[in-house]
Amino acid sequence: MNLLRFESTETWVDGLVAFWEARLRAKPDLRHCLPAGGTPLPIYAAMASAVASGSSSFADAEIFALDEYGGLPPNDPGTCASVLKRSLIERIDLPADRFQHFDPHRVDMHSHLAAYEQAIGPGFDLTLLGIGLNGHLGLNEPGSAADSPIRRVAMHSSSTQAAAQYVKSAPLPTWGLTIGLKHLLSSKEVWLLATGAAKAEVVRRLVRDKPTPELPASLMQRHPRCYLFLDADAARLL
Ligand code: PGA
Repeated sequence: MNLLRFESTETWVDGLVAFWEARLRAKPDLRHCLPAGGTPLPIYAAMASAVASGSSSFADAEIFALDEYGGLPPNDPGTCASVLKRSLIERIDLPADRFQHFDPHRVDMHSHLAAYEQAIGPGFDLTLLGIGLNGHLGLNEPGSAADSPIRRVAMHSSSTQAAAQYVKSAPLPTWGLTIGLKHLLSSKEVWLLATGAAKAEVVRRLVRDKPTPELPASLMQRHPRCYLFLDADAARLL
């Protein structure tokens, strides 16, 4: 795991945007897996500005949403698809049919998940991941196997509580759909993102502990091209 530490959240955003722009220049048809959540929002805003100024383009790229909450009304602004659309997809030049996301309202979930897996096909060039306070990646909660597939999952109570920041309707989600660790670990490149002091302890554990499914983020220690992007607060226990 390659550790990149930045003095402030601003320099963390600048660093990530420089990396992302370079990856898009090298491979304009980059296949991405992207998270919702709060951590990547300033990066998405900066990438939208880069597209607006003409320095980056997603015109040939593809983006797959990492996960989705179940049981919410489709118009809840806190669904992962809504957050991604608002913060990035609607603000960049990605063709509409190149954004794929889960639909938790599908009656035939088995076919839906199989179709999502088929669309992912050969996999991702670049995966960005927030880190849950409990070490989850997407909705791969503690105990998820390294070869776990795309699937429906029960959310841990801490993940349900975290969803309260975004979700407007009640009750809060207790299950979700997620791309599994199998696809995340086989992405050609993975960027783990963490900012703020609240993430410092889980960051310390994912770097220092032996890789274990009990802390899914620690499994990324085995990934040959995994970069851990931290601001000073998130890195303060290292
Ligand atoms: P956050 O979520 O970016 O909102 O902290 C990360 C996660 O829980 O996966």
